[in-house]
Amino acid sequence: MVNDGATALGAAQPEEAAFAQSVTEGEPILEVRNLVKHFPLTQGVIFKKHVGAVKAVDGVSFDLIKGETLGIVGESGCGKSTLAKVLMNLEPATAGSVRYKGEEISRLTGSALKAVRRNIQMVFQDPYTSLNPRMTVGDIIGEPFEIHPEVAPKGDRRKAVQDLLDVVGLNPEYINRYPHQFSGGQRQRIGIARGLALKPEVIICDEPVSALDVSVQAQVINLLEQLQGEFNLSYMFIAHDLSIVRHISDRVGVMYLGKLVEIGSDLEIYDHATHPYTQALLSAVPVPDPRARESRDRIVLSGDVPSPANPPSGCRFRTRCWKAQEKCAIEEPLLARPPWLTGLAAHDSACHFAAERVIEQGAAEREDGASPADEQENGQS
Ligand SMILES: Nc1ncnc2c1ncn2[C@@H]1O[C@H](COP(=O)(O)OP(=O)(O)O)[C@@H](O)[C@H]1O
Ligand code: SF4
Ligand SMILES: [Mg+2]
Repeated sequence: MVNDGATALGAAQPEEAAFAQSVTEGEPILEVRNLVKHFPLTQGVIFKKHVGAVKAVDGVSFDLIKGETLGIVGESGCGKSTLAKVLMNLEPATAGSVRYKGEEISRLTGSALKAVRRNIQMVFQDPYTSLNPRMTVGDIIGEPFEIHPEVAPKGDRRKAVQDLLDVVGLNPEYINRYPHQFSGGQRQRIGIARGLALKPEVIICDEPVSALDVSVQAQVINLLEQLQGEFNLSYMFIAHDLSIVRHISDRVGVMYLGKLVEIGSDLEIYDHATHPYTQALLSAVPVPDPRARESRDRIVLSGDVPSPANPPSGCRFRTRCWKAQEKCAIEEPLLARPPWLTGLAAHDSACHFAAERVIEQGAAEREDGASPADEQENGQS
């Protein structure tokens, strides 16, 4: 089905692109540093008094490498969508820096912001609410051309939209249909086609398959993977479940209460996680093999996620962490490579006692309570 999409999605002309400097494979295309987004809490109707803030994103740093897929995972409410919106400049950052190809973009306005928005696109979670029901699919996909006519001049738009429909595996003749005439998976394909219209370099996918049936999820993920190779895209792929991002991600970052708590390659995170929160999330991932399921050691987290308006002191995970000690309430653990870890365990983890979890066959409940010093002696595999 995918054929001459390159006609519609060919490389941007240098004169069209405000950010023309090239970034080669393996270099960061986005550099995020200490990004903060606080939503003020106010009281009073006429005289609004500032009484606090929801710390939705609270000092997040990472790079998105050109050509990679970075999975971002965490429970609902931990700040994933806010992070995406701040990166897209749909919400102004409270503090911190976002660089796109080396240029600071977090405080841009006007035409400079418009140019960035062309290069960084978003695919939203819910294909049922994110598409305007009163617009035809052709108008939905072609709408970005109104803002960026240089990408597809008026006379070429119908052809450009039909090419995009073809690229995402939909019949180009559906151009005059309305969103309600499509299934959930097809609607998400329309959302992806719209995201591709302006030939972006980065696509931020905010839970793009969470609202879809399991059987359709894999098809949409496969489409995203195929498009990535075809159009040299870099993805940030947000999910609340580690199992969904496993197959698509080159690296994975785990978020808890507005902070990244662990980040590493897929192998480092899935097979050598060292942060207790990641380990708890991994223990909840569905395992299809019943024997493997029995021998698995599930961690059931106690308590609710604390309010982001009043996060715990020190380590934000301490109120639910089975390894918490006095130090965890006093000192905030920074996201860095713990020096006592080696091998694939040696990746960034924000825990004073970061260590791989040891699961004994058939053990009811066992976690690795080894101290950093013990780990140093034992080594890691
Ligand atoms: N516009 C807003 N005003 C106030 N609080 C908000 C706003 N948007 C999100 N939040 C709060 O920020 C926190 C993070 O939300 P969100 O980024 O949507 O999380 P996630 O996408 O991980 O589920 C939540 O506590 C949410 O209630
Ligand atoms: S720093 Fe302490 S509370 Fe936080 S994850 Fe590590 S052991 Fe648990
Ligand atoms: Mg969200």
